[in-house]
Amino acid sequence: MPSKVLVVTGGGDCPGLNAVIRAIVKRAAQEDDWEVIGSIESFNGLLHDPMEIVVLNEYAVAGIHVRGGTIIGTTNKGGPFAWPVKNPDGSWTPVDRSKELLQKIQDLSIDAVISIGGDGSQKISQKLFDMGCNIIGVPKTIDNDLSATDFTFGFRTAVQIATESVDKLVTTAASHNRIMILEVMGREAGWIALHSAISGGAEVCLIPEIPYDIDLVMQKINSRFSNEKGFVVIVIAEGAKPKGGAVTGTTSQEAGYQNIRLGGVAYKLEQEIKDAGCEASIRVTVLGHLQRGGIPIALDRLLATQFGVKAFEMVLDKDFGKMVSYRHPYIVAVPLAEATKEYNFINKDSYLLQTARGIGMSLGD
Ligand code: F6P
Repeated sequence: MPSKVLVVTGGGDCPGLNAVIRAIVKRAAQEDDWEVIGSIESFNGLLHDPMEIVVLNEYAVAGIHVRGGTIIGTTNKGGPFAWPVKNPDGSWTPVDRSKELLQKIQDLSIDAVISIGGDGSQKISQKLFDMGCNIIGVPKTIDNDLSATDFTFGFRTAVQIATESVDKLVTTAASHNRIMILEVMGREAGWIALHSAISGGAEVCLIPEIPYDIDLVMQKINSRFSNEKGFVVIVIAEGAKPKGGAVTGTTSQEAGYQNIRLGGVAYKLEQEIKDAGCEASIRVTVLGHLQRGGIPIALDRLLATQFGVKAFEMVLDKDFGKMVSYRHPYIVAVPLAEATKEYNFINKDSYLLQTARGIGMSLGD
């Protein structure tokens, strides 16, 4: 009987997931008698009745490294420890189905699990490992907010898309003497915002790590206008907040969705700028999921492929309870516990922030 490895993709999708899946399958094919199985929509596939699982062979994964999304689907609602069960009144109750999941893994004679996912998914991996599951994590998030790895794949594709958006906004802002505000993703950390603001040449960048002072933002805006001529491009992360204020978002009505749905801080900022007396015309663009879909750039395909190969080699080495990590120039294994301990924030003394300040960018502080 072949040895079996189960692959799941969990949390929000991210360019490069398919490249990881393909690399796992291709690396497994180098060994004698290994079968790779995918569970549809993370662990949900195993828990559904009938089960939704697929065999992933080289034929199934041929050429998928260039495709965005994930061929085995994903979910960011619930999971084995908080399976959402709908109540008659439309509300939902989280039910723990983790023991059932482990039983199914055993019944299918699965030797190891590779869980590709972000912070929430890797916390689930840690809990399953604590319950005896032979699990390995592969970090993914466009937000790049997972600690214990220098970069996650998908992040640089998102930065590329956000930067191209800044480029486009600069030309229209300059033509109309306008303030253009671009809202990008980044719940806890402002990596996409800061990278794209520097690369695209925005004048202001507001990130979750630095609550902004509207008076200081106004100082920068005013310095850019003379006799109503001038323009400003502002990049703001969805998780940014004013000094003493809270994040902007709504509670989701979707069953099992536990995160606050962030979004709209750019409109809030527009109002704050108007309230501060600015008469320039302002336009807001919320980039949203455009920065999460589509074709991964080459560097993300490369990192994803490195992660996939390493993950399977960790399976061979029985190096469970760990997460694949990129520590330049190495691909290493770090304990899941370490990886999920804290977010990867932009350090206040980082060279990246120094660079931004060095080119005169306002960070609202
Ligand atoms: O965590 C990744 C992320 O893309 C966040 O930046 C964003 O807030 C969230 O996912 C959006 O998730 P959803 O796909 O549920 O809208």
